[in-house]
Amino acid sequence: MITNIIPVSQPALVGNEKTYVIDCLDSNWISSNGKYIHLFEQKFAEYLGVKHALSCCNGTTALHLALLASGVGHGDEVIVPTLTYVATANTVAYTGAQPVLADCEPDTWNIDTAKIEALITTRTKAIIPVPLYGHPCDMDPILDLARRHKLFVIEDAAEALGASYKGRLCGSIADISTFSFYGNKTITTGEGGMVVTNDDELAARIKIFKGQGMDQNRRYWFPQIGYNYRMTNIQAAIGLAQMENVDLFLAKRRTIADMYKLHLADIPGITLPIIKEYAEHSWWMYSILIENEYGQRRDAVMKKLDDYGVETRPFFYPMHIMPVYSGGGSNLDVAVSVAKKGINLPTYYELCEEYIVYIANILRDICKL
Ligand SMILES: Cc1ncc(COP(=O)(O)O)c(C=O)c1O
Repeated sequence: MITNIIPVSQPALVGNEKTYVIDCLDSNWISSNGKYIHLFEQKFAEYLGVKHALSCCNGTTALHLALLASGVGHGDEVIVPTLTYVATANTVAYTGAQPVLADCEPDTWNIDTAKIEALITTRTKAIIPVPLYGHPCDMDPILDLARRHKLFVIEDAAEALGASYKGRLCGSIADISTFSFYGNKTITTGEGGMVVTNDDELAARIKIFKGQGMDQNRRYWFPQIGYNYRMTNIQAAIGLAQMENVDLFLAKRRTIADMYKLHLADIPGITLPIIKEYAEHSWWMYSILIENEYGQRRDAVMKKLDDYGVETRPFFYPMHIMPVYSGGGSNLDVAVSVAKKGINLPTYYELCEEYIVYIANILRDICKL
């Protein structure tokens, strides 16, 4: 019997994090200037193969910056999946635009590309695909729609560092992409985010917005309203150390996914995650569906796992069932059904096979039909 709690997620601070942070403290570079900001941004841009990586204080501000740089504002509409973390919709609302909610695919749980075109109006300005839990979205049809209707594509790749679509890394495909480095993400800076783009003009606008709107060539001259969305050198120091191990982290997550697949395969009533032929998964979370049309069985399964010391998370609620976003879309039944059944299982660097077998045995015991 395992008596410790198995967390759903935990950071892996196994490299140069402490050394670099101490260097920040010793050198007095603890605020939002300093060499680690530059080094982290440079390493991140190199990893993705993009021209610009601009750090900021979290994934939410990264999305807000991407929307601001795209010129989204009052009166505009932005198409976002209803099944996502709330920041995707909230940041659209920050700009004064209206999030228009789209249904998800039943198998990848990502925005259903076939349902996007019907949502486009003369007010639509952008589409935000979200590679949920690390499975890439089918980007080519989205990019094609965007080209035909002259829309921006902003990929909210918070959960998809290291995932790829047809050989291209998530974050390197859209006009702008955003990442989160919250403590549960594949790499973390405690709190932190990144906006990436190949477009010089968008990058220049992001820089201005994240620095209070200051003219980049004239100190304390503010031609526009901006924000203080800067990352600190200490956060960037942790981020650089994390990026040095990103391949290791991703390899470990793939091994964890393989182990879950092996040990959960024979359990009835559980749907395992699929991987489309175009996709390389980042396995931010190993997620399953508990199939039962008749009741709250998913919640009972989570409760049982909790009783045995296994922390899990339910899938996100679809945005449209929350009062603040009700009325934001219609025909969103697939998302409602998926959200009721989904569980994120523990997925983190230190998770060992013994724990995965332990989790599988609990699930096998509960899911006897
Ligand atoms: C899909 C998605 N978008 C945006 C965010 C927001 O990131 P943060 O929590 O760093 O603000 C998250 C993170 O939790 C996320 O999962």
